[in-house]
Amino acid sequence: MRLDRYLANQGAGSRKEVQKWIRAGRVCLEGVLTRDPGAETMGKRVTLDGREMALPGEIHLMLNKPAGFLTAREDSRQRTVMDLLPEEMTARGCMPVGRLDKDTTGLLLLTTDGVLSHRLISPKRHVEKVYLARVEGILTPETEALFARGVPLKDFTALPAKLEILDSHTGRVTVHEGKYHQVKRMFGACGCPVLQLERERFGPLEMDPKLSPGAWRRLTGEEAGALYEAAGMEAPR
Ligand code: URA
Repeated sequence: MRLDRYLANQGAGSRKEVQKWIRAGRVCLEGVLTRDPGAETMGKRVTLDGREMALPGEIHLMLNKPAGFLTAREDSRQRTVMDLLPEEMTARGCMPVGRLDKDTTGLLLLTTDGVLSHRLISPKRHVEKVYLARVEGILTPETEALFARGVPLKDFTALPAKLEILDSHTGRVTVHEGKYHQVKRMFGACGCPVLQLERERFGPLEMDPKLSPGAWRRLTGEEAGALYEAAGMEAPR
């Protein structure tokens, strides 16, 4: 594999960025500085600023999803979150963990580990998700109490959820399940249709405030470990 592709695969940066770094002399192959982005990496040790880059088995990313993108692998007509990732990541099989609606923004996790993904969204595990919602109508202590009891919806009653009212039109809600349009339906059932919804947290992971809408980064080893723990799994070594 070419050196620039190898480094981009690692999530070190975009293909353009890593090409710049290689030309700037920040990358070594087998300890020897190379400025050739096309250099072959097969079987060679690659270091960036002296740090060894190893191609791990699984890749986990966090993306700050902007509005207007479908959470789907592909779509023949609409843009999907996969369009926000470099080809290297999609080629490695990174897939979204669960779904955010097209107009929902914020933290979306993607992983190559299908078992991890499955367990994180399994209704059995009740992994916490935190959303910030701007609503029409007025949020009141009664709304908070109804969320705490469990909002009855047409086809099921939502599990008790914590609603923190930030102002009369803004609430932060913590839910433990992820059914279709669930948060919007819960607010809607209380007479407060959602105008804007943003996910701030998924299980142990908070949105990185340094990621602007549309930006992504690899999870650190510690973050990936916390995710495996939330899924009740051993992190692969
Ligand atoms: N609940 C919703 O209603 N929409 C989302 O995108 C996520 C949770």
